[in-house]
Amino acid sequence: MVNYKVADESLAEKGKEALYIAERKMPVTVKIIRERFTKEKPLKGVVIAGCLHITKETGNLARTLKAGGAEVYLCGSNPLSTQDDVAAALVEEGVNVFAWHGNTDEEFYWCIRQCLKAKPNILIDDGADMIVTAHKEFPELIEEGIIIGCQEETTTGVKRFRAMDKQGVLKVPLFPVNDARCKNQFDNELGTGQGVISAIYGMHILFAGKDVVIAGYGHCSSGMALRAKGLGANVTVTEVDPIKALQAKFAGFDVKPILKTLPEADVILTATGCKHVIPPKPEIFDTFKDGVILGNLGHFDIEIPTKQLYDYAKEVKPIRKHVEELTLPGGKKIYLLAKGRLANLVLSEGHPSEVMDMSFALQSLISEYIVKNKGSFKPGIIEIPTEIDNKVGYLKLQSMGIEIDELTGEQYNYIHGYLEGT
Ligand SMILES: NC(=O)c1ccc[n+]([C@@H]2O[C@H](COP(=O)([O-])OP(=O)(O)OC[C@H]3O[C@@H](n4cnc5c(N)ncnc54)[C@H](O)[C@@H]3O)[C@@H](O)[C@H]2O)c1
Repeated sequence: MVNYKVADESLAEKGKEALYIAERKMPVTVKIIRERFTKEKPLKGVVIAGCLHITKETGNLARTLKAGGAEVYLCGSNPLSTQDDVAAALVEEGVNVFAWHGNTDEEFYWCIRQCLKAKPNILIDDGADMIVTAHKEFPELIEEGIIIGCQEETTTGVKRFRAMDKQGVLKVPLFPVNDARCKNQFDNELGTGQGVISAIYGMHILFAGKDVVIAGYGHCSSGMALRAKGLGANVTVTEVDPIKALQAKFAGFDVKPILKTLPEADVILTATGCKHVIPPKPEIFDTFKDGVILGNLGHFDIEIPTKQLYDYAKEVKPIRKHVEELTLPGGKKIYLLAKGRLANLVLSEGHPSEVMDMSFALQSLISEYIVKNKGSFKPGIIEIPTEIDNKVGYLKLQSMGIEIDELTGEQYNYIHGYLEGT
């Protein structure tokens, strides 16, 4: 029996079309790994719960895990990123889905709890909410050894788990999938990088000639700065890390403190994982350029101080789906994308399937690794095995028909030794 609560089951056919489009672009997760999983069933008897953005790409991850023999439960990792048609299609295919677009905070946690009630063995999180809820409300899943391993998909989630680990309160083996090379150097940099397109989609503006501020110069934000520059914008980067700031400067960007950018900025996009990147003060809001577009691509809606902006605005008017016009007391207008939530997922469909192919191939293989090595992990952070990270890289190259060189024994010894010199 399939357990579920979705917005509208009649959207299933539309969802299947979306899943098909993604499938064609995810050869590693959908073809290479799924075909092997179908034959070998490495996840037989395992219950996997994912708290993930319910997109067509995640749908294909669920199909692969199911093909491997797992019983799959899904809930959304952000109230506005669930694609209702995909959720409906997955239910029809036997995936247990508790997710609908626009759920409230209370409903969001209700969905997480429904997944945890299924007594999952593996948790795949995106932002730490499900695994933290398991610690707080379902300790028996940990104490009784039902949960055998967990994975975290995003930078913000990994930071929370590293903090828990440091304090000795992380009680499960946790694989920080985000930190694998084949994840953050592609998903974060290329996927979120291309997210500037969502910002354009939100307001339909021409980036060329605009003064665009990118907050951060990390994996996501450096990708965004590069793409905004490629579209012809004058890009200024803000940072708090001196090395990242230097990297941005030497890559040809202006670097300034955020407050100095506000009077000139036509567009401000954040992806730092940090709180209140724009300070939450009315006198600072008054320094915005009239007509500025504000968008966030970081995990939580705390980078742009949306609550204080809504409180200060004398009028809030929706002007298109997921875009609001805020009129400040002095008359200036601000255009806020996606209520300050992940603009690339809310305004469009998230990352291109090609990059998610790598992230989800990794999650499939790590799920298999957790099952194979069940019982041998201690609670805490367990770095992603390099062989698995590289394997995904090789499989992606293989799917693209690209060959690369292999180190000879002599080369390997040279690189890893010290006896040979000038
Ligand atoms: N939108 C998406 O689809 C998507 C995808 C992947 C990651 N994310 C999220 O994006 C955020 C960033 O992830 P990342 O992988 O780029 O992290 P990262 O650690 O690589 O980069 C963050 C950068 O922001 C800088 N920073 C921190 N506080 C700042 C501040 N107050 N002002 C200016 N710069 C500041 C840091 O120094 C760092 O260089 C996280 O919340 C992550 O979970 C979103």
